[in-house]
Amino acid sequence: MNEANNINTEALDHTVERLCRVSEENYIDPFARLDWPEELDRDTWFTSPELISIEGTSLWDELDESQRKTLSFYEAVGFYSINIHGERRLIEGLASRLYRKDHDGVTPYLHHFLDEENKHMVYFGRFCTRYANGPYPEKKFAFVQEYEKGEEDFLFFAEIMVFEEIVDIFNRKQAKDDRLHPLAKEINWLHHFEEARHLSFGREFVKVLWQRYSPNWTDDTLKRVRETIGSFIGATWREYYNPSVYKDAGLADPFAVRKMALAHPASLARRTEISAALLKFLSTNGIVPNAKELPL
Ligand SMILES: [Fe+2]
Ligand SMILES: [Fe+2]
Repeated sequence: MNEANNINTEALDHTVERLCRVSEENYIDPFARLDWPEELDRDTWFTSPELISIEGTSLWDELDESQRKTLSFYEAVGFYSINIHGERRLIEGLASRLYRKDHDGVTPYLHHFLDEENKHMVYFGRFCTRYANGPYPEKKFAFVQEYEKGEEDFLFFAEIMVFEEIVDIFNRKQAKDDRLHPLAKEINWLHHFEEARHLSFGREFVKVLWQRYSPNWTDDTLKRVRETIGSFIGATWREYYNPSVYKDAGLADPFAVRKMALAHPASLARRTEISAALLKFLSTNGIVPNAKELPL
């Protein structure tokens, strides 16, 4: 129980204790665990076809199998790049919150979180560097603004949650897809295995931060917070439609491909399906009551 404002943190405290224990018992060395061939057999899938950003469009129908496999490779490099940039932002924000008095209870878990995210960047980065021209550059930029008490922390952890919840659906589906190259399949499995803990922590901590701070926010702040979460979800999704991926895969007019794919009903349906659990969490907890209506 947090005496100061009567917030019940029991569920969070138990989660932190359990997750620390699980992280210690399941320590994974990604260097020993993954097999890194000199060269990859590229005549195979690196992204599940159903998760490729243009799947379901007429452009997809026009591609032959070999072009689709090439695109699946660059979509994997794009996906790993999204992970690297999200994890880098996450590590910066987590590191600056270590040992802060108001985060006392979660600090032991933040150490595991930091350690695991660094290892994730190592294997995502190694794949992009060894087999492609390195990660694609980041396209998302943060804005500097004034915050009310607790707002910046809440948004930081809410945005981590959005980023990780979406990534994890891709990981979960691809971790069991035997069509994938073994290295791509294993990277997805490994990432999901550790991210499952980050997701449990993220949900509990976001709930506690919301209960702790939002009752004192003005209507303007509440509106701003909700809009910020909405735009973050939209911006996160737009990263999955990367013109550099399309260009490297040999598709003509990559910016037009991005525009077409983003607007296509098949990809909107995919975004809706993948975002469903996240949006439900946001609305059930009153964070974004109309989350289902957010433009994706
Ligand atoms: Fe990660
Ligand atoms: Fe994570």
